[in-house]
Amino acid sequence: MSKPFIYGMSVEGEHFTDRELETKRLQLNFENGVNSIIISPRRMGKTSLVKKVKALTESPKLKIVYMDIYKCRTEYEFYEKYASAIIQATATKMERMVENAKEFLMGVSPKIVFSPEPTTEFSLSLGVNPQTSNCEEILDLPERIARKRGIQIVVCIDEFQQIGEMPDSLALQKTIRSIWQHHQHTSYCLFGSKQHLMSQLFYSRKMPFYQFGDMFFLRKIPSEKWIPFIVSRFEVAGKTISTDLAGRICSTVENYSSYVQQLAWNVLTATTKEADEQAFQDGLNATLAQVVPLFVEQTSNLSSFQLNFIRAICAGYHNDFGKREVTSRFNLGTRSNLPKLKKTLIEREFIEETESGLFLSDPLFVVWFKNNMM
Ligand SMILES: Nc1ncnc2c1ncn2[C@@H]1O[C@H](COP(=O)(O)OP(=O)(O)OP(=O)(O)O)[C@@H](O)[C@H]1O
Ligand SMILES: [Mg+2]
Repeated sequence: MSKPFIYGMSVEGEHFTDRELETKRLQLNFENGVNSIIISPRRMGKTSLVKKVKALTESPKLKIVYMDIYKCRTEYEFYEKYASAIIQATATKMERMVENAKEFLMGVSPKIVFSPEPTTEFSLSLGVNPQTSNCEEILDLPERIARKRGIQIVVCIDEFQQIGEMPDSLALQKTIRSIWQHHQHTSYCLFGSKQHLMSQLFYSRKMPFYQFGDMFFLRKIPSEKWIPFIVSRFEVAGKTISTDLAGRICSTVENYSSYVQQLAWNVLTATTKEADEQAFQDGLNATLAQVVPLFVEQTSNLSSFQLNFIRAICAGYHNDFGKREVTSRFNLGTRSNLPKLKKTLIEREFIEETESGLFLSDPLFVVWFKNNMM
């Protein structure tokens, strides 16, 4: 039997719940060649959603390529990943890959590399480099394959914010956009785990990717969906939980997808037959024990002004940090220091800016901070 609750990696099948609306929307975009951009806080379920829609929608006429560019640090590492993922996904047999690479790309030296990792058997290495490779040709690759084969291609790029972190990033973004915007048979689905970096790429009019496609914010999975999911996963494990307690699991972690599954798992482990208050508390403590070392580490080099800014947010202030009531209660330094404090805490992913003001990004961080740092 597989583990009833899974967290920390993308989920599928019986571990996946809700997202009917988003699935439909993304599926329509994929089928109709509409570009999509998915934004959400950490661990809400972007990767899981895209992989689900890929599995549902893929057909011989509609190829969906998924790639993760987290490890790409430079433009050419990105081109290598981009081209090899596209060739691998569109070649029907392993032997065809090298031929396809030679057919569609000049100046590459394709090789099949057998992988030491158990999850992937092999990968394609192309040896893309600034001396011999032509970046326009590489960026045009899916469109040329799609035209030649009479198919449609969707290219899904996970951790897309890496593009914004590469040397000479703005020029790179301009190049990519200028080529992709002419594609008729290829569309793109771009998403990433660093929300503030993704926002910088897509929200500003000045940026090349502004209004590149259908941009949607992945909402939280509501308790009405989580509760039956939690109850049924307990049943699979031969245990029970009341809907009330399942609801408490959701509200304690403010419905953050990964945390709901992590806390549910820890409550399940603490339950003999039927989950009760004690099992819930034990489960919560176990969950905190798993995350607190990280919080301690993350806060260890914050300045006292930065910590005070977080204290103010925890105390319920979300706007107007310059007003007297806040500055007299929390020592935040000079008023002119406030924008910098805010910027740093957003960059370091402690806080997020929403329409209603500034909020802490992590609900368990709030629980820990209030108990230990206030
Ligand atoms: N639809 C879902 N149903 C149930 N659980 C989910 C769902 N989506 C996400 N989760 C939970 O959240 C965790 C993280 O999911 P996933 O990796 O897809 O999120 P992500 O938004 O891509 O994360 P990151 O921001 O780190 O890239 C999963 O391991 C699972 O516990
Ligand atoms: Mg992800």
